[in-house]
Amino acid sequence: MGRLRGAAGTASALLLLLLLLFLRDPGADAAYAFSARAPLQCNVSLDVAPEHRWEPVVSYFDPAFLRAALLRIIDSVVPRWVHAVIRPIAEELEFYVPEPFAGEIRGICRALGVNIGDGLLLNLAYESTAYCTSIIAQDNNGNIFHGRNLDYPFGDILRKVTIDVNFLKNGKVLYKGTTFFGYIGLWTGQSPYKFTISGDERDSGKWWENAVAAFLNRDTPVSWLVRTVLSEADCYDTAAFMLAKTPIIAGVYYIIGGTRSSEGMVITRNRKGPVDIWPLDPSSGGWYRVETNYDHWIPPPPSDDRRTPAIRAMNATGQGNVNIKSLYNVLSTPPVMNQDTVYTTVMSAAFPEKYMTRIRFPE
Ligand SMILES: *[C@@H]1O[C@H](CO)[C@@H](O)[C@H](O)[C@H]1NC(C)=O
Ligand SMILES: *[C@@H]1O[C@H](CO)[C@@H](O)[C@H](O)[C@H]1NC(C)=O
Repeated sequence: MGRLRGAAGTASALLLLLLLLFLRDPGADAAYAFSARAPLQCNVSLDVAPEHRWEPVVSYFDPAFLRAALLRIIDSVVPRWVHAVIRPIAEELEFYVPEPFAGEIRGICRALGVNIGDGLLLNLAYESTAYCTSIIAQDNNGNIFHGRNLDYPFGDILRKVTIDVNFLKNGKVLYKGTTFFGYIGLWTGQSPYKFTISGDERDSGKWWENAVAAFLNRDTPVSWLVRTVLSEADCYDTAAFMLAKTPIIAGVYYIIGGTRSSEGMVITRNRKGPVDIWPLDPSSGGWYRVETNYDHWIPPPPSDDRRTPAIRAMNATGQGNVNIKSLYNVLSTPPVMNQDTVYTTVMSAAFPEKYMTRIRFPE
């Protein structure tokens, strides 16, 4: 009896061990002390008028929390003179802001009881202390994978409002993206079976001065162009062309991935057009491209080198092993992932159902 129980005990311990081995999620292989959570999945119907289409999402959030968060972010990132210039524009939003952006901002502000000028300011905020990492890669079979970390201050607020949004047209997903509720532009998005896009900030100094001037000249905010491209471009080439050529209000790195071999590039932008185009070049060893927040042809500053660790992790992964999961692991490597990382998204336009965002929590 005793021996039997002993054997059963050993067997169940073994079974438990096996189960643990099987259940161990490589993504949770966390030598890195971060936990991760899937964001809220929302639907926004493009068939509904811009002013009303975000209403179903508003109900998930506490308006008082959002109002306080909005004011805190605006107070810390928007200079006073910009308030003075932009707030009055809210009166004639249509004149400066095209649809659907004007209607969406107006609708969200009304639903939350927020001043429209403040809503507009929030949507223009583009902070020079934000850091990001984007990686585009191709495996041995020509499959394209695209991943990004979005790093930003105010993580305590932003982790609570990070959402994946399906933008629906006729009940089908026209495109998908990840954003912060209330921020209608996209820094991360996917047009299914066509292309994926991420944006990383390109710090060009006195950007508010230039941005406000360009905005008043009716050029497009950087993240609004991503939405326009996701909704209008019918293929990878058109998307890349629009991202490279359309005038925008600030410099940026646009990273785009397609569905076929070699379809991936980093587009370095100034406000007027492309500064540099850096495509994948798999036949010459360029099976991936890493972009953080510095021009790829010059070394990153030693004080913020997230590029070299990302490259080292990609090399260690190897082209034969690149996939959604391994790319997520690369993006989870410190300091590629850091205290400011709000979320990680990994995606592949040819396999739109694999789109995965995880909100990251430093512990
Ligand atoms: C979003 O839309 C899809 C497709 O129409 C539907 O299957 C899903 O249930 C919707 N999800 C939510 C949260 O409404
Ligand atoms: C990554 O691999 C490439 C190609 O083998 C090599 O030139 C480069 O030095 C490696 N970089 C790092 C940081 O390991």
